Amino acid sequence: MAHYSDINRLNWNDRTAVHAKSAFYNIEAFLAGENSLPELDREELGDVAGLSMLHLQCHFGKDSLSWARMGARVTGVDFSDEVIDLARSLNTQLGLDARFIRSDIYNAAETLQGEQFDIVYTSYGVLCWLPDLKGWADLIGAALKPGGTFYMAESHPLAGIFEAQNDRLEMRYPYFDNEALRCESATTYTGDPDVLEHPVTYQWQHTLGDIVSALAGAGLTLEFLHEHPFTEYNAFPGTMIQDERGKWRLRENNCLPLLFSIKAVKR
Ligand SMILES: C[S@@+](CC[C@H](N)C(=O)[O-])C[C@H]1O[C@@H](n2cnc3c(N)ncnc32)[C@H](O)[C@@H]1O
Repeated sequence: MAHYSDINRLNWNDRTAVHAKSAFYNIEAFLAGENSLPELDREELGDVAGLSMLHLQCHFGKDSLSWARMGARVTGVDFSDEVIDLARSLNTQLGLDARFIRSDIYNAAETLQGEQFDIVYTSYGVLCWLPDLKGWADLIGAALKPGGTFYMAESHPLAGIFEAQNDRLEMRYPYFDNEALRCESATTYTGDPDVLEHPVTYQWQHTLGDIVSALAGAGLTLEFLHEHPFTEYNAFPGTMIQDERGKWRLRENNCLPLLFSIKAVKR
């Protein structure tokens, strides 16, 4: 476990400098006031003003700081040294009071020392980095106050079995597979050409049933599980078009769930 985590952390450290200057993340627009949160998350989670929020796998904090601008008292957790440094620097530049903690998800309960939050939030590109959903869900259960809300929006695991090849979707990976998948990519997903010093990562596929069952097992009651036929970015280049709201949809048939969102309450 430590082995996978160390390899992935080096890769995320490399990506940070690329993401910081990338048009994909557009930090200038964010510093100038842009809210980075998709409308889906804002509408489905609702008003966060005055509430405490734990943001898991917060990356360099754009979304965390967007929630902070909306009045939440945010604590972001991520295992990458570089993203946490950048998140802290953006927080200072913006004069916000978010807190950023460098910790692996699997050590975060210890790091947080029993602190509990009104909301736990996580989103977009998080679960594939986690080998063990029970440890993840147990952290969420432990970090929520009784009656507190968990919200996540994430790529649909069914979409995870496909890859874009020659402008078509091809079924490439098994849906039911918990083995670590060794991946190698010289560049990151932002489309920037910069070559990463540590191109290897390990990733995991989790079924929708695994995700919901892990949350139920950690003491959460589902309020909803929504499936959506769009993504926030061009997940399958050559096969997608952007609609008038900026959402990416499959060009040929809009029949696959590409995202899911979950709202749940701690019993
Ligand atoms: C795709 S990013 C999340 C992106 C985020 N939605 C955004 O766009 O700002 C995934 C994040 O998970 C973090 N991560 C991966 N494995 C982790 C682990 N075991 N513990 C903590 N953070 C982890 C990475 O450092 C990275 O910042």
